[in-house]
Amino acid sequence: MVLKRVLVIDDEENILVSLKGVLEDEGFAVETARGGSVGLQKVRKFLPDVVLLDIWMPEEDGIRVLEKIKKADSYVEVIMMSGHGTVETAVKAIKLGAFDFLEKPIHFDKLLVLLKHAFTVKELQDENKLLREQLSEGEALIGKSAPMDKLKTLISVAGPSNGWALVQGENGTGKELVAKALHRASPRSQHRFVAVNCAAIPDELIESELFGHEKGSFTGAHDRKTGKFEQANGGTLFLDEVGDMSAKMQAKILRALQENCIQRVGGDQAIDVDIRVIAATNKDLKHLIRDQVFREDLYYRLNVIPVFVPALRERREDVPLLLSHFIAMYSAGKKLSISSSTLRMLQSYPWPGNVRELKNWVERACILSTGDVIDSLEIGDWEDDSQPDVLSFEEKSLRMARAQFEKEFIVKMLLENGGNVSKTAQVIGVERSHLHKKIKNYGIDPCTL
Ligand SMILES: Nc1ncnc2c1ncn2[C@@H]1O[C@H](COP(=O)(O)OP(=O)(O)OP(=O)(O)O)[C@@H](O)[C@H]1O
Ligand SMILES: [Mg+2]
Repeated sequence: MVLKRVLVIDDEENILVSLKGVLEDEGFAVETARGGSVGLQKVRKFLPDVVLLDIWMPEEDGIRVLEKIKKADSYVEVIMMSGHGTVETAVKAIKLGAFDFLEKPIHFDKLLVLLKHAFTVKELQDENKLLREQLSEGEALIGKSAPMDKLKTLISVAGPSNGWALVQGENGTGKELVAKALHRASPRSQHRFVAVNCAAIPDELIESELFGHEKGSFTGAHDRKTGKFEQANGGTLFLDEVGDMSAKMQAKILRALQENCIQRVGGDQAIDVDIRVIAATNKDLKHLIRDQVFREDLYYRLNVIPVFVPALRERREDVPLLLSHFIAMYSAGKKLSISSSTLRMLQSYPWPGNVRELKNWVERACILSTGDVIDSLEIGDWEDDSQPDVLSFEEKSLRMARAQFEKEFIVKMLLENGGNVSKTAQVIGVERSHLHKKIKNYGIDPCTL
């Protein structure tokens, strides 16, 4: 569980001590600061959710400190405290973004009610933001084929655990979508899902991107910045394209993951982080380990729950569902359907770019179709010579390769024969009952082809 962080800033030592005691007893993580300037430093280092701030302090008055806190980190809620509160100062503080005003001597019950209120408001804001992000991105994992069913079951079982996962699959199969689904199914879903594209960070920026930096720690560090690890605290860190990480990045990440703690560039404090890691790659990490470009210790650390996302050609049954889903997304309310010849073609196409390629095809089709029916002739085709080897036999036994080929072959022939099993059996020269058995074993549903 992530403790809620409260920072108390006051010039009176006895107030700091008593508030710390009461709030810690209530289960908060509490830091105290005597005076505004120490307080501001602690806002930067401790990253509190809520600050209790005295208005009258000899060194610097609380209203100025409030302004600086909000400038440094607008996410923090500030509750002002004062023994000589006037309506004007209270109004001024609220205008500057204070959450509320509390009169001294502090009534603890009142304080706890106010803190509870502040945290509820924060949680609602976070939840709202999260829901808006999810809605706008269209996160649903579409597919009802046997491999997708298996994947969804795994997500529902493994998601709620705290186990780290390694999501593997070809380009465009939906690895990021799967990672987000794992996060949503977890108790961490109220916290953030922070993605890091490991292939896109240059070596010299790794530490600052991942762990953040303090103001002035290097040329160009104009402000304090939190890194991806801190942003994901309490939530999920999605390490995308892990197979493309440089050796330096692998070492830095492994160390942070082992110690559950990081240090900002130019900072002197170790910051504890509580994160779940979900990694993804389209590379064969075992091969990379053999070639000594990926660390074996990091691989075992990441690969607690292996998750394989099947290629689209291994679940052609999902093509019609995906088509409807994306047509609804891109047709802008227009009623569009697909001609049966185009559908047959789309189902037998190997989709080397997987769901992403299909999604892009639908977007193009929706733009270019002039009538109510999408027809491939109107849209223009993909280039035939772009079709790669449909089967990849790497790391597979002969038995598995044969089975894979057999399944693909049966699906293709069924498609060519309109899903008619008797006709297909005749064409490929096997008994109808034999073909039925194969169809059942491979989980092919001729009705959805
Ligand atoms: N099962 C699915 N249902 C709906 N949309 C999907 C599905 N799978 C993938 N998509 C969509 O296809 C696109 C590619 O998905 P995503 O980015 O998750 O793939 P990826 O495996 O991470 O690809 P890459 O290896 O290229 O990074 C996204 O727009 C995503 O929303
Ligand atoms: Mg991806």
